[in-house]
This record gives sequence, C-alpha cells and structure tokens, in this order.
Amino acid sequence: MPRPSFEGDPPMPSVQMETSSKHHSSALLFFLGGAIVLLILLILLLLYWKIIRPSKLMNMVRRPLKQPGPKDLFSGNLRTISYFDFHTLKKATKNFHPSNLLGVGGFGPVYRGKLDDGRLIAVKKLSLEKSQQGESEFLSEVRMITSIQHKNLVRLLGCCSDGPQRLLVYEYMKNRSLELIVYGKSDQFLNWSTRFQIITGIARGLQYLHEDSHFRIVHRDIKASNILLDEKFQPRIGDFGLARFFPEDQAYLSTAFAGTLGYTAPEYAIRGELSEKADIYSFGVLVLEIISCRKNTDLTLPSEMQYLPEYAWKLYERSSIFDLIDPRLQEDGYVERDVLQAIHVALLCLQPHANLRPPMSEIVAMLTFRVEMEVRPIKPAFMDRRRNKRDENFSCDTISVVLSSPQQSDSPSVVHANKVG
Ligand SMILES: Nc1ncnc2c1ncn2[C@@H]1O[C@H](COP(=O)(O)OP(=O)(O)OP(=O)(O)O)[C@@H](O)[C@H]1O
Ligand SMILES: [Mg+2]
Repeated sequence: MPRPSFEGDPPMPSVQMETSSKHHSSALLFFLGGAIVLLILLILLLLYWKIIRPSKLMNMVRRPLKQPGPKDLFSGNLRTISYFDFHTLKKATKNFHPSNLLGVGGFGPVYRGKLDDGRLIAVKKLSLEKSQQGESEFLSEVRMITSIQHKNLVRLLGCCSDGPQRLLVYEYMKNRSLELIVYGKSDQFLNWSTRFQIITGIARGLQYLHEDSHFRIVHRDIKASNILLDEKFQPRIGDFGLARFFPEDQAYLSTAFAGTLGYTAPEYAIRGELSEKADIYSFGVLVLEIISCRKNTDLTLPSEMQYLPEYAWKLYERSSIFDLIDPRLQEDGYVERDVLQAIHVALLCLQPHANLRPPMSEIVAMLTFRVEMEVRPIKPAFMDRRRNKRDENFSCDTISVVLSSPQQSDSPSVVHANKVG
C-alpha cells in the first residue's frame, strides 16, 4: 500500500542523494577503468614501438630485398646465416680500399676488413659477370656452405646481397695463405713438423668435404692460395663450394684454366670429368709443393725440373727423392719417415687414372701411419706445355698431358692399404 503523504511531512533528500551518488561513483569507476585500460594499451603500444618495431624496421632497411625476405633468412633453421648490410662491409674495408685488397681470384676480389666489434674478416666480392644467380639461390648456397664446418675449413661468417652485388664474409686468417710461403713471397720459414701438420690438416679437411659432411663436395680448386693458415699455422681450406655460385661451364673455366693448370687432374682438364679424385690429384701436387717449397710449374728451372710431379717421379725412380726437399728444410732437419710417407702418398694421388688414386680417408690413415703402404705408385700423369699432336680435339694450345696407362707400366697398378692393428 502506498504510503499516504501528509502535508508538513519533511522531504526525503537522502534517498535521492544516495541514488545520484551511486550513479556518480559507477560513472567514476567506469571512467577510471577505461583510463587504466587505455593506459595499459598505451604502455603496450609504446613497448611495441620501442622494443620490437625498430629491429624489424632495421631489418627492413638492411634488407630491402624480397625473395626471400629477412624473415626467411633469420627464421627457423636458417638462423646460422648472418646477414651483413653493405654499409657495414663498406665501413669495415674502408670503402673497399686498395690497401685492403688481399688478392683477386677467379671469383672476384678479396678485401681485408675490421668490424666494429674488432673482428677481422675477409670479404669476397663475387664478380658480377659470372654470377647470374637470383637472390634466393644465392642465399640457399650460402646456407649450405655455412652448414659445413670443420676445424680444417675456413668458416663462412655470412653474406651480403646488395642489388646485383653478392658478397661473402669469411673469418680472416692471420697467416694468410700457403701460397705466400710456398712461392717465396714471404720470408716465413716453416719447419718440418709444421709442414707435416699442414699436410695432414688439409687431408682431414678434404676427407670431411668428400666423405663425412652431409653434402658431398668436390672442391675443384685445391691449390696453395686456397689453403689458409690460422694463428697457429693450422691449415684451413678456403673457397669450398664456391663453384655453386656460378654457371657450371664458367666455374670450370675460371678455376681450371685461370692459372691453376698445374694442379688439375688430366681427366678434368681434358674431358671435364669431375669427381673427388680431381681434388685428390691437386692434393698430391700441393704436398710436393709443400715439401719442396716451389711452384708446381717453374719454366725458369732446368728442363727436367720444370714440372714438379715429373721431376719428383724422376727422383723417385733414381732413389734420390730426398733431393726434392726444400734446401732450408735440409738444413733445419726433418723426419725421414714422415717425408717418405708424404711423398709416397703424393705420388699415389698423382696416379694417371682416377680410380687408382686412394680416397681421402685412406690418405689420412696413411699420413697418420694407421695403415701400411705396400704398393709402389706408377708413373704419374702431369701437365706440360708440349703440344700433343694426336689430340686434335683439344683446343687449348699450350696444354698437353702425358698419360700412361697401367698396362704400359711395369709397376703394380692397384693401390692397397693394409690395416695395421
Ligand atoms: N679468409 C681469408 N683470410 C686471409 N686471406 C684470405 C682469405 N680468403 C682469401 N684470402 C687471400 O686473398 C687472396 C685472394 O683470394 P681468392 O680466393 O680470391 O684468390 P685465389 O685463391 O688466388 O684464386 P681462386 O679464386 O681460384 O680461389 C689470396 O691470396 C687468398 O689467400
Ligand atoms: Mg681462393
């Protein structure tokens, strides 16, 4: 029942006030709540812009290229590749200053550089005319090479792709390349134990490339300038996998005929037949160079000494192989057994027929005396500049090859390595 109102009854403001204050406080609460949510949102947004966004932006600035973009490069299992922006490399090499030029090879010039964090690097600018790869192909090759790591292989630190330019960044090797020592461009003298360490190290690196890594890699260009030496004169093979950046035919031309002929296996030079055995042949030449400290071909020497494999074979036949040894090493001293083993291995690597050359794992076993060598090598194949008139199809007019077949030789033609123990 409604309560009757009486005149003179006092008004009831308290009820009205209560209701309006309730309205006020809920509005205030609503307002405050909204403000807090807004504040949180603002803070989150700020955090996003301050922390996450710039790095993304930087990446975009660094890598304006599309396929694949920065995400592709840095995500998932591709994290092993480091990307260097062109500006960083320009700064590190003092704008590719000639004083930082380490040399120019078949793939392009190489510059020494120093990064802001003090790390020394070697930057290889792949020459444009030859590399016609798209960016994604380039990156996938870089990824492949980066994944191949061994203590006797030079480490690829990363790459840069700037417009048409393709650059590879390697760790810098303090003692540069074996070429400087073998070819007498530096006064550095290496004693026998260092040389033997270098020979076995190269063999191990090659074994890894040929047999143990998850990709089978034929180096194609084993030679003194591609053997780099770290601060302890441990050898590291450089430039492996590089041929993958170039069209097949051009890679073959740039490596086989651009001055490295003396290292090239005959079947590769003449017929373009490429296998691990071509590297093994080059390794044989390199071992002789390390022992004798001379180039594989030196036309200033008396005629019988001009071609190192030929000369080594002559000395071997005359049982005067120790004459091959670097005179400075003769003075300093060497371990006879090691030298003989290394020369024997080298001659086996130089066998004229690829299938007579032992695989790298066997070579490592021989060099470390884990297996015995019972077989005498047969006459090696070697290049010389006497033209072979019978070979009309062979267009390179300064090259001929002396190939002896196993049937022509009276030495055994099969290589055995018996396991000891
Ligand atoms: N990581 C490195 N550290 C120090 N020196 C290096 C490094 N990489 C290359 N070099 C040196 O730079 C020079 C040029 O190297 P590059 O590989 O371009 O030429 P190359 O070895 O003479 O020929 P190729 O192109 O057939 O390999 C060589 O003397 C090489 O030893
Ligand atoms: Mg090289």
